[in-house]
Amino acid sequence: MKRIRKAIFPVAGLGTRFLPATKAMPKEMLTVVDRPLIQHVVDEARQAGIEHLIFITGRNKGVIEDHFDFQYELEDTLSERGKKGELDALSRDLPGPGTTSFTRQQKPLGLGHAVWCARELVGNEPFALLLPDVLVQNERGCLAQMIDAYSALNTASNIIAVEEVAPELVHQYGVVGVGKTEGKTFQITSMVEKPKREDAPSNLSITGRYILQPEIFDILATQPKGAGGEIQLTDAMLTLSKSQQFHGLKFDGRSFDCGSKIGFLTANIAYALKRKDLAPALRDELKGLLG
Ligand code: UTP
Repeated sequence: MKRIRKAIFPVAGLGTRFLPATKAMPKEMLTVVDRPLIQHVVDEARQAGIEHLIFITGRNKGVIEDHFDFQYELEDTLSERGKKGELDALSRDLPGPGTTSFTRQQKPLGLGHAVWCARELVGNEPFALLLPDVLVQNERGCLAQMIDAYSALNTASNIIAVEEVAPELVHQYGVVGVGKTEGKTFQITSMVEKPKREDAPSNLSITGRYILQPEIFDILATQPKGAGGEIQLTDAMLTLSKSQQFHGLKFDGRSFDCGSKIGFLTANIAYALKRKDLAPALRDELKGLLG
């Protein structure tokens, strides 16, 4: 089995769509039920066997580093009060010593630039990239499914998680073209950012989870600014696709775009409805609200 040991979490964006909530608090610390977005995504990476978590942070993001550290006062107090359940949960969530790294993207110049900031920490090996504002709800996480697909390929390919979107919405997404297909995995023949409906090669959108080969870093190093004046990861992937294969994986599960308010609110309800301690009461409340 081919291993993917390291994962990048870009958390340096400004989160402008959630202002004023994100004025002093990182978007990635907004909670879906009782876990911050970034914790949900780290859970997914750890379930997939990732050993080293690399966070690309920026100003005002220090609380993310604190979140993944031991909190003496809190844990002492919980222990004094005999709150064993809470203590055990905190210790299960705590990444092991030396398994996290934090580096700063000094200016939010775009996702491609954020990924490039991790080049020294990743080195010369394939890595996973998880966008913390996308949650995928499924018992076997999206990244674990991608690593299974990666292991099954006999080439050192790049893998992108994709899912179907309504054809009238393709203009909002990065969309891929579909080549030779085996089960849920297929060769990507083209990638287009936000195409018109009539120009879209399919209705399969790129969904915030990637396994990439380290050659992407050399491309990002000289990648000019693209759409929105930002250094775009998709542009660099397009260049890499001229010399390396890209595969798409139609993963099992449902994604939530928690970078948008509707996606975030829906995720809160969907995740709460999966919880035995919350679902019955929430269902009643929702029925009452919807009248
Ligand atoms: P988004 O574009 O969704 O996040 O980037 P944003 O820019 O923070 O949000 P809005 O659009 O202003 O509301 C996806 C992920 O990439 C990170 C973000 O933190 C987010 O987790 N990102 C984005 C960076 O780390 N650096 C960047 O320059 C841009």
